[in-house]
Amino acid sequence: MKRIAVLTSGGDSPGMNACIRAVVRAGCSMGLETWGIMRGYQGMIENDLKPLPAESVGNIIQYGGTILKSARSAAFRTPEGRKQAYENLRKAGIEGLVCIGGDGSYTGAKVFFEEYGIPSIGCPGTIDNDLYGTDYTIGFDTAVNTALDAIDRVRDTADSHNRVFFIEVMGRDSGHIALHSGLAGGSEGIFVPERHNEFQQIVEAYGNKNRQKAFSIFIVAEGDEEGKAYEVADEFRKVYPDADARVTVLGHVQRGGKPTANDRILASRLGAHAVKGLLEGRSNEAVGVVNNAIEYTPFADAIGKHKDINEKLWELSTILTR
Ligand code: F6P
Repeated sequence: MKRIAVLTSGGDSPGMNACIRAVVRAGCSMGLETWGIMRGYQGMIENDLKPLPAESVGNIIQYGGTILKSARSAAFRTPEGRKQAYENLRKAGIEGLVCIGGDGSYTGAKVFFEEYGIPSIGCPGTIDNDLYGTDYTIGFDTAVNTALDAIDRVRDTADSHNRVFFIEVMGRDSGHIALHSGLAGGSEGIFVPERHNEFQQIVEAYGNKNRQKAFSIFIVAEGDEEGKAYEVADEFRKVYPDADARVTVLGHVQRGGKPTANDRILASRLGAHAVKGLLEGRSNEAVGVVNNAIEYTPFADAIGKHKDINEKLWELSTILTR
């Protein structure tokens, strides 16, 4: 293998640039030339490829977003789109791929390998932390810290006005950001899609007259089955019409910003090991960190198996938040 390519696909996450840098620089040290594919699989179809020499990834480790840009490509889901993408890679002499993204990106790489035999390794890049085969995904730590900063700020004003705040954090189908930011932020209740009936328990706890505080912060994962923050707040107002309940939706603020040290180090380790894996003949796998050791997980498992929130942290949160 002499030439590989790297792409970022799906929702961006802070630390993707650090991962691109690691792929390029680790590739150089192993005698590989690395190319970048712009806008994920869409750029592969549109032949938007370029060589990434070592110096091209200088001064990017500290930035959120992705210098390769990202997209969700509908065309790559079609056989015609993938055929065109394969032709472009073949002409450019690309023999291996590193795909940085979430389960959609892994699915694309898996299908592509099955159809055209281009070896690929996935690096988990999503703020949601919902990928099986790694304890943490690139961008999760930064997103949690961003959410935490916002929670602390809302807490000041909630305290001043004796208000109840429902703060919605991201996590399409997952409550990892909600659990970690809610626990670190000292919230009174956390709503996650992985657990049920939080509303009942939280409402009961709020009604407990022995509570010391006159204000409350609740964290709601956007994918919670009991509703998004506005819906949960409406239900709450029905039970407590006198409470001054407000809603703050953090949204895409959580997707940007300087990656934390943890995310930069995680991204660097994963990017370098993705390249190492390719050179060792690995393919159709995602690289991850499990108990602080590098592990490779077949794409089929990384996509198909569900990663639950950390049960011990959840139990702890139910004790500390009430
Ligand atoms: O997967 C990351 C994520 O930020 C989710 O938390 C969120 O539901 C989704 O992407 C939003 O996607 P988009 O930016 O395409 O609206």
